[in-house]
Amino acid sequence: MKPTITTTVIATLSIAMLVVGGCASERDAAPPGPPQAAIASAHPVATAAGFEVLTGGGNAFDAAIAVSATLAVVEPYSSGIGGGGFWLLHRAQDGMQRMVDGRETAPGAAHRKMYQDANGEVVPKLSVDGALAAGIPGEPAALEHIAQRYGRLPLARSLAPAIRAAREGFEVTEQYRRMAEFRLEALRASPAAAAVFLSNGEVPAIGHRIRQPDLAATLETIAREGADGFYRGAVARMLVEGSRAAGGIWTLDDLAGYQVKERAPLTGEFGGLRIVSAPPPSSGGVALLTILNIISGYSLEKLNLATRTHLTVEAMRRAYRDRAEYLGDMDFVQVPLRRLTSRDYAAGLRATIRLDRASASKELRPVAPQPAGQHTTHLSILDTEGNRVAATLSINYPFGACFVPPGTGVLLNDEMDDFSAKPGVANVYGLVGAEANAIAPRKRMLSSMSPTFVESEQGVGIIGTPGGSRIITMVLHGILALHAGADAQQIVAKKRYHHQYLPDAIQFEPGAFDAQLQAELELLGHQLQPLDSDYGNMQTVIWDRGANKVSAASDPRGEGLAEVR
Ligand code: GLY
Repeated sequence: MKPTITTTVIATLSIAMLVVGGCASERDAAPPGPPQAAIASAHPVATAAGFEVLTGGGNAFDAAIAVSATLAVVEPYSSGIGGGGFWLLHRAQDGMQRMVDGRETAPGAAHRKMYQDANGEVVPKLSVDGALAAGIPGEPAALEHIAQRYGRLPLARSLAPAIRAAREGFEVTEQYRRMAEFRLEALRASPAAAAVFLSNGEVPAIGHRIRQPDLAATLETIAREGADGFYRGAVARMLVEGSRAAGGIWTLDDLAGYQVKERAPLTGEFGGLRIVSAPPPSSGGVALLTILNIISGYSLEKLNLATRTHLTVEAMRRAYRDRAEYLGDMDFVQVPLRRLTSRDYAAGLRATIRLDRASASKELRPVAPQPAGQHTTHLSILDTEGNRVAATLSINYPFGACFVPPGTGVLLNDEMDDFSAKPGVANVYGLVGAEANAIAPRKRMLSSMSPTFVESEQGVGIIGTPGGSRIITMVLHGILALHAGADAQQIVAKKRYHHQYLPDAIQFEPGAFDAQLQAELELLGHQLQPLDSDYGNMQTVIWDRGANKVSAASDPRGEGLAEVR
C-alpha cells in the first residue's frame, strides 16, 4: 500500500480572486514554448542530472525529481530524502498551477511540551540535534507523487543520476567544509553520520570524496518500489528502530501515514506582475503579498533611496509580525488568509507607517518571532514546452539533525525546530508565543520557503532561495529587481537587506548600504545590524517571451550552476 495522497485545494483560490481578480490560471490552450530549457540549482552535478533527464525524454517535472534527488545526495547539508519541501508547478498544456506540499509532519507522539524541561523551559538543542528533532519526511512521497501525476518518465529513470552520485561520490568543497565545521559536534554524535560525512571524525579536506552506499541502496529501493520502499518495509523498519534507539519517537504508522498534499498557490499582483507563491504551511506567499500590497500604495520610484528602503523595511516589519501571530498549518488552525492578503488590510497597515520615522517593533501588537531554519536549497526549471518548477527543499539546519539511522544512509531533518516550542507563554522579552504554530501530532511546521513564479504578458521569472527567515525578503528583493528590469544575473547578485519584526533591526549584507544611506536610516530611527557575510543562494530562470529568450543564473554567493540549453 502506498502512503495516501490527497488533494487539498484550500480556500486560496477565492482569495486569489479577491487580490488579483483571478486565481493561478488554468488556461485552455498551451501557449508556444520557450526556445530553450533552463535549470538553475545549487550544485553543478544536480543541474547536470536535470538535463540528463530532459534529454532522455523527460519534462520539467521529471527533471525536478532528478535535481531534487541529486541535491539530496551532493548537498547533504541543505536538503534530503530525510527532509521535505515545496514544489511549485506550472503545466503549460492547460496552465495548471499547483504546489506539491511535501513538508514534514510531526510524529504521532509529538506534543506541545516535548522540547521543554520539567520547569517548562525550552531545551534548545533537543529540537535541533538528534533523532527527536526530526519530523516525518515528505520528500520521497512528493517525488513519487510528481512522477506519477506530472512526469513522463518512470520514477526509477529520474532517480538514476542521484543513485549514481551516491555510489560514485562527490567532492568536498569550501561550502561543504564550512557547513560540516558548523555542525561538527553534532555530526560526531551519530556514528552513521560521522562515518559518511566526516573523515576520521574531522571535517574532510577539499577534494575528499563523499560516497554514500547506504543512501544509494535506499534510493534504489525507492526506484524499485516507489515511496513504499521508504515508508514501509525494511527501510522504514531501520528508520524507526534507529530513530527510537537514539531517543526518537517515530513509529511505523507515522511513516505509513505520511500524506502529500496538493495546494492551490497564492497569487497577487504588483506593478503589472502576477506573483504566484507558496500558501501555508509556508508563510512565504502570505508575507510576500502583504509586503507587496503595502508598498504598492507608494510611488516608490519617485522617492529617494533612504525613504524607499525605510518604507520597504516597515512593510517587512508588519508582515513578519503577522507571520508570527497568525500563520501555521491550515489543516489544523484557521489562518485569516483572506484578510492578510487583501489590499484593504494592507492599506490599514500602511496607515500605521510614518514617512519620517521608523516604528519600534515593541509599539506593534506583541507576539514572539518564530525560529526558522538556516539551511535549505532551491531549484528553478523551465522546459521547452513551457512547463516550470520552482522548488525549495530543506532538512532545516545544516546537515539537519546530524543523525543517520544505521543502515539507511538517510540524514534526518530537524524541521521540528520550525514549530513554536512554547506557544502561549511569554518569552524573555515578555512577548507571547504563537498558538497557530504549536506542535501537534501529524501537523506541518510553519515554513518560510517561498518558491515563486513572477508572470506578465512579457514573460516569466522562476525564483527561490534558501536562507531561513530571510527567504521571504530575498524573494521580495528578487521580485522588485525583476520589476525594475534587472536580468537573471543581476537578480541573484543583488545585495540584500532584511527586517523580521524581531530583532528590531535591519540586517544587511556587506556593501548593501553605503555610509550615507546608513546615516539616513539611523536618522529615521532604524537600528542597523551589519552582517559579517553575505547570505542566500538564489536560483533564477527567466523566459522573456517578447525577446524569445531564456536566461538563468545561480547566486554568486553559492557553488551552483545555471544553464540554458
Ligand atoms: N526550515 C526552513 C523553512 O522551512 O523555512
